[in-house]
Amino acid sequence: MSERALVELRGVSKGFGAGSTRVEVLGALDLDVPEGQLLAVVGPSGVGKSTLLHLVGLLDRPDDGRVTLDGDDVEVLDGEARARLRNRMIGFVFQHHYLLDEFDARDNIALPLRIAGKGAAVARSRADELLEAVSLTDRAHHFPDQLSGGEQQRVAVARALAMKPRLLLADEPTGNLDRANSEQVFDLVRELHLLAGLTSIIVTHDEELARMCDDTFHLVPAGQSVEYV
Ligand SMILES: Nc1ncnc2c1ncn2[C@@H]1O[C@H](COP(=O)(O)OP(=O)(O)OP(=O)(O)O)[C@@H](O)[C@H]1O
Ligand SMILES: [Mg+2]
Repeated sequence: MSERALVELRGVSKGFGAGSTRVEVLGALDLDVPEGQLLAVVGPSGVGKSTLLHLVGLLDRPDDGRVTLDGDDVEVLDGEARARLRNRMIGFVFQHHYLLDEFDARDNIALPLRIAGKGAAVARSRADELLEAVSLTDRAHHFPDQLSGGEQQRVAVARALAMKPRLLLADEPTGNLDRANSEQVFDLVRELHLLAGLTSIIVTHDEELARMCDDTFHLVPAGQSVEYV
């Protein structure tokens, strides 16, 4: 693992709302995620874990401070440049799979490639590779409602990797699964993280899964000091 930070946050603050309903969520947060690291983010509900992933994933902007990806300050980029960088560099997995019901597993995985302008044959062949990587080749033509929760999440992981991202962001990817399926999806993420040489940030409530990561970032409410254990 190289020690260069792929993700760097400096003095990042973020809140929502205005006036009496204003909530400060992240306060002057610093974070370095070295290239190749699998980082768990833990903390109580409402502390700002999803907010943090949205900032790193270029889905939202901080009120203050700087987010740097691979050495580039992404706050200076306009919306279009951020969208391009996001599509090229970042894969997302959420707690709910967000697969499209009308597409089978293979076409769901192929979709990001099709949106990026790849031809159908290229996109399907990459999707087939990924189906094999998540051990779902025999489910290629199943639709999301014909898959178990764990299988749906494995398809979502495959889809997140379709564009060969360098950074994988997962927000409670096992939050809706039972113990056995959680472990299976988590093991898969860890295996693909290593295989693809990813840098990964995984939000989880599950301390046991967090312990299987390279490091854990404990997010605490804005205004309290943040410890990096
Ligand atoms: N778009 C928004 N508008 C207003 N408030 C928001 C918005 N997004 C988040 N918040 C508030 O910011 C705080 C942090 O939310 P966030 O979703 O990041 O928490 P979390 O740590 O991911 O919680 P959980 O573990 O429940 O998913 C919460 O108080 C939430 O209500
Ligand atoms: Mg959340």
